[in-house]
Amino acid sequence: METKEIIQNYWDYRSETYNTSVVEQSEEEKMLLTNILSSTMSNRNGLKVLDVGTGPGVLALIAAELGNNVTAVDLSEKMIEKARENALMRTLDIDFMQGDAEKLDFPDAHFDVVMNKYLLWTLPEPTKALMEWKRVLKDGGTIIAIDGDWHNEGLLSRTIRCINNAIKMLKKTKYTRVYNKHYDPLKSDLPLFSLKPERVIQHFKEAGFENVSVERMDKLFSSSRKSRKLLDVLNCSSPVYVIKALK
Ligand SMILES: C[S@@+](CC[C@H](N)C(=O)[O-])C[C@H]1O[C@@H](n2cnc3c(N)ncnc32)[C@H](O)[C@@H]1O
Repeated sequence: METKEIIQNYWDYRSETYNTSVVEQSEEEKMLLTNILSSTMSNRNGLKVLDVGTGPGVLALIAAELGNNVTAVDLSEKMIEKARENALMRTLDIDFMQGDAEKLDFPDAHFDVVMNKYLLWTLPEPTKALMEWKRVLKDGGTIIAIDGDWHNEGLLSRTIRCINNAIKMLKKTKYTRVYNKHYDPLKSDLPLFSLKPERVIQHFKEAGFENVSVERMDKLFSSSRKSRKLLDVLNCSSPVYVIKALK
């Protein structure tokens, strides 16, 4: 099976459980994301915004609530169904469609903002994706990419992750097993699977972005979880970054 097909199958499978990231989103996380988006957009609205790898629509819903014209794509048709339901429940008008972040079906210079959250790590060709995002951005447009180093290979992180995974296994978290089955064979094909800021900057530069800013924002990830997990308790959560660049 091709890499993209495996990724698509996994996220189709995860769509039901992953939808909790919208349904059970904490006020704190929503506020943090709203602030990141509105400050990046300089508090303007009515912008043409694209959310790539939207999942159940986490960023797309917030950008639409801020009064923007939002389009959102995801590889997984089932995620798109969830995102549509979430928008409908909030009476938000968002254009959702199935699509590949590395090969977008939009004209050049079409969007003011291209954004994504927790997507970079699972892209087989991040530079190609960034070139696509640059192509569809208007001159002066902005990219906002939010992602973390979920698979840090440092010894301490590895050990703690193992303990954490073991606990999840004991709790019979089925998706951890399914996740490993899908992603273990793909790791080496995903350049940002262990996401380091310097590597992300390199991909942005290769795609032609000059001024790239990276801000560490771990609070974002811990605030998205209702219960504090072992990693948080031990203060070893994965680092999360907000990366921005202008076309
Ligand atoms: C970890 S989820 C993140 C979802 C959402 N952005 C969020 O903030 O929670 C990753 C999402 O990226 C999607 N995805 C993975 N590869 C993709 C690609 N090449 N093009 C578009 N979407 C992709 C998956 O289907 C999944 O919905």
